[in-house]
Amino acid sequence: MKKRTLTGYRPTGKLHLGHWFGNLQNMLNMQDEFDAYYFVADYHALTTNWEHTENLQKFTDDMVLDWVAAGLDPERCTIYKQSDIPQVIELMLLFTMVTPMSWLERTPSYKEQREQITDRDLNNVGFFLYPALQAADITIVRADCVPVGEDQAPHLELTREIVRRFNGTYGDYLIEPRSIIPEDGARVPGTDGRKMSKSYGNSIYISDTPDEITKTVMGFMTDPARKLKTDPGDPDICPLHQIHKLIADKAEIDRWDGECRAAECGCVAHKRVVAEELCAYLAPFHQRREELASHIGFAQEVLEAGKEKVYPLAEETVSTCRRMVGL
Ligand code: TRP
Repeated sequence: MKKRTLTGYRPTGKLHLGHWFGNLQNMLNMQDEFDAYYFVADYHALTTNWEHTENLQKFTDDMVLDWVAAGLDPERCTIYKQSDIPQVIELMLLFTMVTPMSWLERTPSYKEQREQITDRDLNNVGFFLYPALQAADITIVRADCVPVGEDQAPHLELTREIVRRFNGTYGDYLIEPRSIIPEDGARVPGTDGRKMSKSYGNSIYISDTPDEITKTVMGFMTDPARKLKTDPGDPDICPLHQIHKLIADKAEIDRWDGECRAAECGCVAHKRVVAEELCAYLAPFHQRREELASHIGFAQEVLEAGKEKVYPLAEETVSTCRRMVGL
């Protein structure tokens, strides 16, 4: 029996290289070794964007196209949409019974986003319940492990606590999931050297055109101490080098490292090479994405098939939980 894995993305728009290297490559690698479930977290998107739902369906379709074009194969893994399995909501409700309010209040993402996001109203109960919903997402398929970015680790920890409390109260049934945090490329820097993030405006999006990619790469920060071409640089602190490492082989990286330290190459020349290689690296993805998008209704078909696969499993989990709780 294969172990089960699950992860979800909120459909909030385009994916960037941070998603691509930090998580998506892991998801690709896991589709054969694991019984893999990948879902579009549209209820989760609603918790923070409930006032603006006009793009929700488009973003959901885009997410499926991006995933499949990147190499997720609907035949080898299960791709579905969260709101297609309402069982997850029932499980969340059962979880809210065993979850003290204080556990949700002290979730770091809850505290941070309440403080940092000022352009949206996050005083809604739906947002407060976000981590309980995530716990239900994971346990509804009884996943053994969850590949996520570092920022999601507290949500996984909370899921484990909720599961322990549920099992402790009603009987040992649900699985405590482990998180799998990728070491390689977990921290993909953006143009300004901070972590690549949509909200920092420092991202390279995987669906960007070659012209857009080139423009962004040419604006990348390099070693700030290297003012002149004749100054030796430090590749270890150069964000451009970190991006290059993700796409080039070791021999090429060693050569650029050496030349940078010896002040034998210029940053502008290096940016040109990285831009060119990145465009070539993403070209097959772009081509495949275009092919898939030309097939009208493709994303809907994938989601429909995924729903068929996950629905019985979700029903089995929730009906067992219902019984255990005593309903
Ligand atoms: N909270 C995750 C994010 O913001 C999305 C998500 C929702 C998720 N449910 C999940 C991730 C379950 C892993 C497992 O990216």
